[in-house]
Amino acid sequence: MLITIMRISAEMAKAINDQISYEASSANAYIAIGSWCERIGYDGSAAFFFEQAAEENRHMLKLIHYLNGVGAESIIPAVEKPPSSFESLESTFQFGLTSEQKVTKAIYDLVDMAEKEKDRFTYSFLQWFITEQTEEETLFHTILQKFDLLGRDKLAVYQIDQTLTSVRSQVMSKQTSQK
Ligand SMILES: [Fe+2]
Repeated sequence: MLITIMRISAEMAKAINDQISYEASSANAYIAIGSWCERIGYDGSAAFFFEQAAEENRHMLKLIHYLNGVGAESIIPAVEKPPSSFESLESTFQFGLTSEQKVTKAIYDLVDMAEKEKDRFTYSFLQWFITEQTEEETLFHTILQKFDLLGRDKLAVYQIDQTLTSVRSQVMSKQTSQK
């Protein structure tokens, strides 16, 4: 019989499993938003949110691999049904920003826990997520700023939607050049 020794605490494993659940909910919500955008005809935003969902899925997998690697059991969660319609294009990005802010807070709580437990493995593993969350929040802020700059009439919203195919690479390259 194979005996695996768990190298993180049971509490930490539970907290990381909760994080897996948040990432899964985010992925699902972004797919729902992408689908709404696609139905309405906001093609740039649809592509943006589908890619965002894929990112959340990658985050979830990263956490799953980590738990399995340290001998803990990763639990694949059931996810709640996300909203299926939205007030406006701007409101979908507000939804995204609020969701990212919640995820950032959850990551900070995990880091605090790792510090308290002197769990260096998990502490080091989580650093990647902190950087990632900074980028995610910046991305949503940058997009929301466009509504203030360009306006909210039909033409402005159409123009904003068109810029969304390239906004991710623009924000990422700006952040990379700052590192
Ligand atoms: Fe995430």
